Amino acid sequence: MNQVIDLLKNHRSIRKFKPETVSIEKVHAIIEAAGWAATSNFIQAYTVIHVKNKKTRKQIADLAGPQPWVETSPLFLVFCADLKRAQTACLYENKEMVSGYTEQFIISTVDVALAAQNAMIAAESLGLGGVYIGGIRNDPETVCKLLKIPDHVYPTFGMCLGYPDENQEQKPRLPVSMVLNDEYYQESNTDLEKYNAICKAYYQNRSNSSREDTWTHQISVMMTSPARPHMKAFLKKRGFEFK
Ligand SMILES: Cc1cc2nc3c(=O)[nH]c(=O)nc-3n(C[C@H](O)[C@H](O)[C@H](O)COP(=O)(O)O)c2cc1C
Repeated sequence: MNQVIDLLKNHRSIRKFKPETVSIEKVHAIIEAAGWAATSNFIQAYTVIHVKNKKTRKQIADLAGPQPWVETSPLFLVFCADLKRAQTACLYENKEMVSGYTEQFIISTVDVALAAQNAMIAAESLGLGGVYIGGIRNDPETVCKLLKIPDHVYPTFGMCLGYPDENQEQKPRLPVSMVLNDEYYQESNTDLEKYNAICKAYYQNRSNSSREDTWTHQISVMMTSPARPHMKAFLKKRGFEFK
């Protein structure tokens, strides 16, 4: 349709990288592009930490899985939801920020996600590839200690980037018929079986670690296990409460 849509539709996560480094000019271009995402109330409630120290990378790679690409990718960024800068803005105006509102948690989490996806797309447009690392939330306390992350900030996910050294088949996405509703919410599962068959074929035929699986099976495994139950207490401690 156009080059931007073609780029978006060419996405796949990359976990194997050529050793070639990513120039600091490209890093800055990616982060600048991230900053042009829309932002709730103009807060820009995010910070990106560029983690270069090898020992720190290894520690994060281990706690995230292990996920070796966190250690081996040429570039590793940690995206944080950040309300501390907003607190500073209030102090600058001799005011005290009210904190702990669920809405503030949503605002900062959405802001960081939008900025990160801009970064991913910008990186892909420069010939790079990458993968998000939600695995850092396995042990967010340690990530905060390692990266000196203060209260009112939490590490939301990491992102590995570099020049791709693999050419994965694309993971098929839900069809438009299942995600686009006319006028009001209508769960539309008529194409679910077809989508399961497409995912089954993808898993059977992919060149890297093929297996027997379907979308519903995969989601049913994931959604019937507790999901990082430590996150509620962790966020509360950081100043992200659910008032
Ligand atoms: C917020 C977020 C966290 C993710 N965390 C991880 C992760 O820790 N490790 C990993 O290998 N992939 C991770 N992924 C990548 C997803 O598994 C991947 O995007 C999804 O399976 C679709 O595959 P694709 O990106 O290749 O199309 C994450 C993606 C998102 C959006």
